[in-house]
Amino acid sequence: MLDTLTIRTQRTTASRRQELDPEHIEFGKIFSDHMFSVDFHDGEWQDPQIVPYGDMAVSPANSALHYGQAIFEGMKAYKNAEGEITLFRPYDNLHRLNVSAERMCMPAIPEELFMQGLTQLIRLDADWVLDKPGSALYIRPFMFATDGFIGVRPSESYRFMIFTCPVGLYYNKPLRVRFEEKFVRSAEGGAGYAKAAGNYGASMWPTKLAQNEGYHQLFWTDASEHAYVEESGTMNVMFVIDGRLITPALSTSILDGITRKSVLTIARDWGMPVEERKISIHEILQAHQNGTLQEAFGVGTAATIAPIATIGFRGQDHDLPTAPANAFSKRVSAALDAIRTGQAPDTHNWMVSV
Ligand code: COI
Repeated sequence: MLDTLTIRTQRTTASRRQELDPEHIEFGKIFSDHMFSVDFHDGEWQDPQIVPYGDMAVSPANSALHYGQAIFEGMKAYKNAEGEITLFRPYDNLHRLNVSAERMCMPAIPEELFMQGLTQLIRLDADWVLDKPGSALYIRPFMFATDGFIGVRPSESYRFMIFTCPVGLYYNKPLRVRFEEKFVRSAEGGAGYAKAAGNYGASMWPTKLAQNEGYHQLFWTDASEHAYVEESGTMNVMFVIDGRLITPALSTSILDGITRKSVLTIARDWGMPVEERKISIHEILQAHQNGTLQEAFGVGTAATIAPIATIGFRGQDHDLPTAPANAFSKRVSAALDAIRTGQAPDTHNWMVSV
């Protein structure tokens, strides 16, 4: 990685690293010592800087707060047996961030700014990348509008930031997920393919209702018929039916997940039949009934591979068979872990050294 971009760096004088207990980490609550920040105004990205993690001032009329002109990414860094830190497919995150930026009328982030900000921040907080199995450094790049103006139009100024947090497992047990037939996460032509803040805000209430009924998450279904599965919670979703790996095809309402495409690539490498297409609630329930639904699982950066144990539909629970040790979801999860921690060859060049 070239070190060409100068990033003004103010190191903390009060590191919190010693307070970190790697055995008790709750996802997203503990933040590493530093954060990266760069402002955009007058049509250009200005001087980037790395500063101690902390609160910041924004205008109360900030249009991200009022109209949701805000986007983010989720990505992870890992430490291998040699203590080397690597990022998983960071260029894919940059690409998706810029796809989201275009959808939300925001400026693109140049590759050098993104990669230098990322690598210099992680090098500075290298001690926060844990090497305990199952743990990683979760990285949250994000951009938001900063104009203090409440007219509804794209902001002229923005801030792009990155902070990181050491994380363990997102879900610690197989999930109970129910089909959602009333609310939608996104419709064709909407912003579901973008990692826009509002997609997540709007998902909270329907999710809360499902949680009140004892489920962890929802299967979001299509906006016009509520017949086809789109995503599960904040993850893409996959099913193994009769030895075939089936996942909803990408569309304007589905996020182009990086874990999703990595799992599909590994499945194809292994010669497993892969189908990216519409999959209906009816097909899933029918497969469950005739015993061909072998596995269902969510895939995402935070959760990695999250097995689904129970599928709820109109008040009835359908329990999936316990996945055997050689179940696809377990093998692919182990294969991804091995690539990320340097224990297996990185044949697709996914890992980038920090
Ligand atoms: C991720 O997997 O990185 C996500 O976007 C989920 C997050 C909202 C916790």
